[in-house]
Amino acid sequence: MSKPTRKLQGKVALITGAASGIGEETAKLFVANGAFVVIADINDEVGQKVVTSIGVDRVNFHHCDVRDEKQVEETVSYTIEKHGRLDILVSNAGIAETPSSILELDMSNFDNVISTNVRGVVATIKHAGQAMVKQKIRGSIICTGSTASVISLNISLTAYTSSKHAVLGVVRSSCGELGTYGIRVNCVSPHGLATPLTCQNFKMEESEVEEFFSSQPSLKGVVLKASHIAEAVMFLASDESVYISGQNLIVDGGFTAVKSLM
Ligand SMILES: NC(=O)c1ccc[n+]([C@@H]2O[C@H](COP(=O)([O-])OP(=O)(O)OC[C@H]3O[C@@H](n4cnc5c(N)ncnc54)[C@H](O)[C@@H]3O)[C@@H](O)[C@H]2O)c1
Repeated sequence: MSKPTRKLQGKVALITGAASGIGEETAKLFVANGAFVVIADINDEVGQKVVTSIGVDRVNFHHCDVRDEKQVEETVSYTIEKHGRLDILVSNAGIAETPSSILELDMSNFDNVISTNVRGVVATIKHAGQAMVKQKIRGSIICTGSTASVISLNISLTAYTSSKHAVLGVVRSSCGELGTYGIRVNCVSPHGLATPLTCQNFKMEESEVEEFFSSQPSLKGVVLKASHIAEAVMFLASDESVYISGQNLIVDGGFTAVKSLM
């Protein structure tokens, strides 16, 4: 983690899917930079452990299944009750699927991925946006996309790729509407990195995931970590990006920009 800079001093952030991986690193970085954070996740046990490891004075856990709008609404209300305001939403909770050909696709898995990765993002923006508008807060909303938001990774991830393309559509659409209220909406799109999501779905060890994904981007000598994504999210959450909205910040070492002929 980089040296604390207090870039988010006194801000209140709600981060979904923060019991693990990218969300967890983002929660740690936000707190180190002066924010109060509510972690919203379905994994209560791991979420509580993250709270204990960061410090109960700056971070709280609230159970939230983003597929359930009622739970999303309650989580936003909890954040306001606890901290009096909401400045930042990081809509990050997401799942992937084990690669499977579209010819064999299990449609219930497809529905579950879409429900989590798209419906969940829409519901969180809806309720966090309402809270920001009500309190006249010029907030920042950051959604976690993926390189699969802009290209197909061609590894039989129909549901995931569809869902992450949709996340970008949701970001662009809500940026247009919420900009009227001074609220910024952006996307951070990581390339593959080792978290439980990738290790479990690709059935690989952390080192194997890192080796697999590091071999693709043109940028060499760096292995993508969740902390790198957290830094990008913090930039978009902070006042350093005060005129940036509707953008997709792709953190992929040039992977989507370069198609090698060799
Ligand atoms: N790891 C990667 O390679 C990668 C690359 C690009 C994008 N992403 C995206 O980053 C985000 C975070 O993933 P990660 O890699 O940190 O994975 P992760 O599995 O470490 O974390 C995901 C978290 O989301 C939570 N979650 C799952 N379903 C939920 C639900 N219905 N409601 C609330 N919480 C739920 C999980 O409990 C977990 O804590 C996801 O949106 C993922 O698609 C990951």
